[in-house]
Amino acid sequence: MGKILAVTNQKGGVGKTTTSVNLAASLVETGRRILLVDLDAQGNATMGSGCNKHEVARTGYDLLIGHADIQDVIIHATEAGYDLLPGNSDLTAAEVELMNRDDRERRLRSALTYVQNDYELIIIDCPPSLNMLTVNALAAAHGVLIPIQCEYYALEGLSALLETVDQVRQAVNPELEIEGLLRTMYDARNNLANDVSAQLQEHFGDKVYRTIIPRNVRLAEAPSHGMPVLHYDKASRGAAAYLALAGEYLRRHASAEAAAQEPVRAQHDGAQPTHF
Ligand SMILES: Nc1ncnc2c1ncn2[C@@H]1O[C@H](COP(=O)(O)OP(=O)(O)O)[C@@H](O)[C@H]1O
Ligand SMILES: [Mg+2]
Repeated sequence: MGKILAVTNQKGGVGKTTTSVNLAASLVETGRRILLVDLDAQGNATMGSGCNKHEVARTGYDLLIGHADIQDVIIHATEAGYDLLPGNSDLTAAEVELMNRDDRERRLRSALTYVQNDYELIIIDCPPSLNMLTVNALAAAHGVLIPIQCEYYALEGLSALLETVDQVRQAVNPELEIEGLLRTMYDARNNLANDVSAQLQEHFGDKVYRTIIPRNVRLAEAPSHGMPVLHYDKASRGAAAYLALAGEYLRRHASAEAAAQEPVRAQHDGAQPTHF
């Protein structure tokens, strides 16, 4: 069954959408089947995947409200190479309408169970707030990826996000883990960026991805052409960085899965399982 990854940070403009779109495209490049869920009413991930948010027949709104089955909302983003659950300004209404429902936190989680076997990874691009849509993403997810722009206020708000993650873990989703913190739009010539980066590593250790996403103009240009950077300029530093992130993500999960299977394998080999 596919994993679900929520790309979240309640700050706007930190690289959530850029990361969602380009991690999705980079994983497709490695042969993985990916679904990208655009849960932001701005619809940037939809546009950046080459789909016109004004022309899509249905969005996450129809799904969350129960107007449509998930299979009828998902489209194929041909240019990007992955499947897309589109989003647009209709999602603002979902946020309001969900408030009256008892199962409001679990709407996305329930819907995704129908397609989870069809994908190796489902990536959710979250809105820039800790609203009910973000709570739906966290309730559905196995992991949270937090993009962080290494600037003065970067760490402000991080504790509120981690608290929300804790609350969702306790109330709805015990499986939820912080998957990793990703340094985005990084400029190594900037002393402040280096200071913030050092602080992140001190506080979060291995949870900070080794891959750093540099500031790269090709990453900013690609969405206006409706494509991930990999298809816009494969030779760019931005494309290389997101391919590296995809590689790091896959390696982390491969070693976690191998570790989880280890005792089983040992038993098959006739060895004594280790007890701790
Ligand atoms: N690494 C980067 N280098 C240059 N521009 C970037 C980079 N990452 C994101 N951007 C640009 O910064 C803006 C905000 O990024 P975006 O991914 O939309 O953030 P969010 O989804 O968190 O609001 C966008 O215009 C995007 O194209
Ligand atoms: Mg965004």
